[in-house]
Amino acid sequence: MEPILEMKHIRKTFSSTVALGDVSLEVWPGEVRGLIGENGSGKSTISSIAAGMQKADSGEMVFQGKPWNPKSMIDALQHGVGMIVQESGTISGVTVAENIFLAELGQFKKLGIIDRRAMNKKADEALRAIGVNDVHGSTPLAALDFQTRKLVEIAKVVMKQPRILVVDETTTALSQNGRDILYDIIKRFRKEGKAVLFISHDLEEIMEVCDTLTVLRDGARIRDFRKEEFDPDAIRTSMIGRELQGDYYRGDFTPSRLDEVALRAEHLRSGDALKDVSIDFHRGEIVGIGGLSHCGMHTLGKILFGAEHPEAGSVTTADGTKITNETAAMKHGIGYVAKDRDVESLALNTSIRDNIAIAGMERYAIGNFLVTGLKERPYVDAQIKSLSVKCSDRDQLVSQLSGGNKQRVVFGKWIGRGSEILILDCPTRGVDIGVKKAMYELMDQLKREGKAIIMISEELPELMGMADRLIIMKDGVIMKEFARSRELSDAEIIKYMI
Ligand SMILES: Nc1ncnc2c1ncn2[C@@H]1O[C@H](COP(=O)(O)OP(=O)(O)OP(=O)(O)O)[C@@H](O)[C@H]1O
Ligand SMILES: [Mg+2]
Repeated sequence: MEPILEMKHIRKTFSSTVALGDVSLEVWPGEVRGLIGENGSGKSTISSIAAGMQKADSGEMVFQGKPWNPKSMIDALQHGVGMIVQESGTISGVTVAENIFLAELGQFKKLGIIDRRAMNKKADEALRAIGVNDVHGSTPLAALDFQTRKLVEIAKVVMKQPRILVVDETTTALSQNGRDILYDIIKRFRKEGKAVLFISHDLEEIMEVCDTLTVLRDGARIRDFRKEEFDPDAIRTSMIGRELQGDYYRGDFTPSRLDEVALRAEHLRSGDALKDVSIDFHRGEIVGIGGLSHCGMHTLGKILFGAEHPEAGSVTTADGTKITNETAAMKHGIGYVAKDRDVESLALNTSIRDNIAIAGMERYAIGNFLVTGLKERPYVDAQIKSLSVKCSDRDQLVSQLSGGNKQRVVFGKWIGRGSEILILDCPTRGVDIGVKKAMYELMDQLKREGKAIIMISEELPELMGMADRLIIMKDGVIMKEFARSRELSDAEIIKYMI
């Protein structure tokens, strides 16, 4: 048997950054190969080279026995390698169907005019083929949320029936239903003797989904694991090059908080997402909010920050101010890490420095408006250091950072601002275990400094590991509240989620 794809001695640099030193990788028929490694280890780079998104500096690729030099992603897809990218892979100004057929609108042209009906119909077919039933070709993409856009992107790639499917850190953006759709596709690829390259930071998921696993570290291939060798500790150790000491989460199991209420949500309503939700958030408390992705918790996060307006109800700070917009929220010391970092949290085409400095403005402003570079630089550098953002320097564009390093910049932006109330919506999405641990430690420290922390998450272990109080939502209502305890069991909690 021959590999479907062979990548030999691939090297890729970005000015002084060596993204890939000398990496060789093969993908075999019927194989689902996982790629795992810390943020910035080169996973997106190696897979995007295979999928034609960028070119290697040197090295060689062979696909189905022939030299492989795709000119673009579209070229690669048309010849058998398709990729679901880590960040947004769709265009928002056009419809779902136009996204799906972007490169080949020509096939729907009759006498110079595009037959939209035919195109929409084909788009619907592509979506139905992967099991997405409630999205239509004619819908403007802008009307869809991030997860549905990802499904459109998946439909577009799978429709072309590639021999190799690359899935880059996609599942964290999907709800269970979306994940199941993707897992079904992956199983089908395996059965049909095709192949999948699967990137994820979720060790449990990757061990479940993949047949083999390749660990990358600092742009080098460190070790391969076959399914029967899968062992979480061994994989982690080879990822970070040393053993990870101690526990991830806070060490105590005693719920605690200060008496003072920092933020009060009263009778919030918002369509189907929230139906009369009231919660008091105290200083010195980590409140975890969990549930399935459409339970309303993400909408709640936006409303608490004033980024969305409820139909009824109010959000009030300790001094009695009503929070109705983001400016008021920021002025009253509220920080917000949004779930979809590209859309809501970062200005991608500006530097790390500008992103971190904008939120931290008043910390180093002299008077009210004068910002001096002299003060700004050490401040920004301190944030970069404390979250170990992997970058060339503070002036690097955020768009050039790896996915997890972008998330660190978002986190740094709000922590550095000295926010008294932090709303964190899936804060550890896409970050590697080392930094996850650092983020948890930081949260624990902020709690002990008396800050109020609201952690919205789809990952039960981190909620159980960190929260003083765990609130479970379903269909826009609070189903149950659990106090921190060593005895909490996930089975018990999940009962209230589904
Ligand atoms: N366009 C670019 N310009 C400059 N540096 C880049 C660019 N793209 C990637 N890099 C750098 O190359 C390295 C590898 O990045 P890559 O995106 O492959 O990491 P990754 O393993 O996918 O990480 P993550 O888990 O965070 O997504 C990083 O140090 C990153 O900052
Ligand atoms: Mg990546």
